[in-house]
Amino acid sequence: MNYNTYDCIDAGTENCPCYLALTGDCLICSRLQGKDCCDCNWRGVCIYNEFVQGNRKVNNPRAEFEAKILEKKFYLDDLVIFVLDVGKGFAIKASHPGSYVFLRGRESSHFYDLPISVMHADVEKGTIHVAVKIIALKTKALLEESERFILRGVYRNGIQGVSALRPSRTKGQKILLIAKGIGVAPAILTANALRRQNKVDFVLDTEKISTELIHDYLEGKYKIGDVKEEINCSDELGTIKYLTLNNEEDQKDLLRLLKKENYDCVSVLASDYFVDTIGALVRKTLPEAKFANSNNFRICCGEGICGACSFVNDAGETIRMCKCQRKE
Ligand SMILES: Cc1cc2nc3c(=O)[nH]c(=O)nc-3n(C[C@H](O)[C@H](O)[C@H](O)COP(=O)(O)OP(=O)(O)OC[C@H]3O[C@@H](n4cnc5c(N)ncnc54)[C@H](O)[C@@H]3O)c2cc1C
Ligand code: FES
Repeated sequence: MNYNTYDCIDAGTENCPCYLALTGDCLICSRLQGKDCCDCNWRGVCIYNEFVQGNRKVNNPRAEFEAKILEKKFYLDDLVIFVLDVGKGFAIKASHPGSYVFLRGRESSHFYDLPISVMHADVEKGTIHVAVKIIALKTKALLEESERFILRGVYRNGIQGVSALRPSRTKGQKILLIAKGIGVAPAILTANALRRQNKVDFVLDTEKISTELIHDYLEGKYKIGDVKEEINCSDELGTIKYLTLNNEEDQKDLLRLLKKENYDCVSVLASDYFVDTIGALVRKTLPEAKFANSNNFRICCGEGICGACSFVNDAGETIRMCKCQRKE
């Protein structure tokens, strides 16, 4: 893999070394790629040493377990929130920006596993909240389950550029989260993780999403007004602005907001179309700002094995986007 362009999201975590180490395909470690010398750029704990010391096994493989459905609430006919009992330890791990899990009903086979972002992690209660937009086979099958989901996780790579949104790295910053559709779910998790130490503003396009959900999940820290109304709660709490992202006039509003606030970091959590168009606007207006966006690749195993998420770069290397983080 091109070390200068990508990092592995799991490198140095409790899930490293992973399955890729077993077959000589580690994304980071040259020794675990079969070379006889160490020439990696990794600055954390030595992955090769961990692998040898750990009897050449996968460290903490993510196991499936049954998560009780504590609550199921419809916000729209095709938008449903599930509250799942996962235990405190899991909820803590799931509270970081970019976290997602795989879910399926108990009667469904593995083919129905689907990646779903963590929208809220309640560490005290040991629960996570997920929002599902019902589209076709896999999401419809989830609705059939009334008691327990088969859950696997936590996976970390739901956001590209997530290092700019880590609570440990962001203090006293101005952050803008631009979200549309189900991208609102990872935006809510990110905002709740960051807003105690930073000023976090929102630009939301609520097409296909209910404003009641936003009101419920931003925990009363932001006031919700009429569409297109900007409400200043206080300097610390930030603002929410409702815009239609593909409307030209609204894009001018966004441009004005970017110039006025001069954000340290902007994140676009939406489809690739908006990541590209709004992302270009952001990069042109605030070239110094860090940029993060939703990881919209087709994710199937999340472990770097199946190849569903991969693409071949200009150097002919296969890059697996469930594991890879672009370097900023
Ligand atoms: C990291 C990540 C987090 C996600 N978080 C959420 C979430 O919080 N809530 C939510 O409702 N949806 C989320 N999704 C998208 C969700 O996984 C897909 O919408 C779902 O798999 C669609 O399945 P389906 O059978 O109902 O529809 P399909 O007809 O199979 O697909 C509908 C749309 O979803 C896309 N899709 C299908 N399978 C996948 C897949 N494995 N990975 C990515 N996209 C897929 C399709 O390309 C198509 O655009 C997330 C996807 C990823 C990659
Ligand atoms: S989703 Fe299987 S390799 Fe990335």
